[in-house]
Amino acid sequence: MGAGPHAPLSQKRNDMNHFLDIHKTDANDLRAMIDQAGAMKRARLGRPKAALDEAQPLKDRMVALIFEKPSTRTRVSFDVGVRQMGGQTMVLSGKDMQLGHGETIADTARVLSRYVDMIMIRTFDETILTEMAEYSDVPVINGLTDRTHPCQIMADVLTFEEHRGPIAGKKVVWTGDGNNVCASFLHAAGQFGFDLTFTGPAQFDPEEEFMGFARQKGSQIVVERDPFKAVEGADLVVADTWVSMHDSQSAKERRHNLLRPYQVNTELMSHAKPDALFMHCLPAHREEEATSEVMDGPNSVIFDEAENRLHAQKAVMRWCLGV
Ligand code: CP
Ligand code: NVA
Repeated sequence: MGAGPHAPLSQKRNDMNHFLDIHKTDANDLRAMIDQAGAMKRARLGRPKAALDEAQPLKDRMVALIFEKPSTRTRVSFDVGVRQMGGQTMVLSGKDMQLGHGETIADTARVLSRYVDMIMIRTFDETILTEMAEYSDVPVINGLTDRTHPCQIMADVLTFEEHRGPIAGKKVVWTGDGNNVCASFLHAAGQFGFDLTFTGPAQFDPEEEFMGFARQKGSQIVVERDPFKAVEGADLVVADTWVSMHDSQSAKERRHNLLRPYQVNTELMSHAKPDALFMHCLPAHREEEATSEVMDGPNSVIFDEAENRLHAQKAVMRWCLGV
């Protein structure tokens, strides 16, 4: 239908970007987002949390934040980030929406696109995310699926570089479960040019697809069952929960028994480089996947990671909207 009084008023923008995964995003764009996040963080130093950024790139923008799983960091950091940039948010729980009662993802995406300028969704199966993006007229951001967690790793790259300079060429060691957060770390290894060693039981190896992506980009990706050998020469040691939100609770005991040898404790960290950082995306189960001695120790940057969710996602949102 052409222009005129009866032309449809809603039009899909073609200058928008979805942020679905790190391997689906141009490496130069990822680099630019990390650099912009750092600059925006420095520009806010010492200012109150609710103070608006000088430029208000999200002025007059409405962002829907949909949660089909629990969240503390993702929820608060997106909400605060949008507000700092002059925009507004609505936080929606999947189970309270018609989405949780049989309305299709496609219809939900088309409806929300008529009300809001951007959608962030935390969900289960990644096809929910990709379908949302396919049918949405506005940018869609992955706030965690069963398979990946790209916003977390953008924050982690920013955090590493703040403490240790460029992450390219460094050795990252992922311990325990080769889960959704590990998958995005592997994507980042390929895109930012670092190496990653996975150490955990064979049952919990990351999917070949994720390791293959990083290898094909030139990263050295190693699977080492012995955690002490794995951390030798590590610049960064990473842990995550042994039971993710999408894992069955009935498997908890079996998983704990298999994963216990991979706990990050002071002895394990002593085999890494002396200045090796420790990261955990949180929430943590203290004394399970990592001890408090490590989590609260001098090499731990876990709360910087949490803070950097805010700064990294602000840059992601600006990239999505092209503002
Ligand atoms: N790391 C992270 O995504 O935390 P939340 O589950 O609290 O959002
Ligand atoms: N792997 C964890 C990360 C939580 C932020 C989960 O999916 O539950």
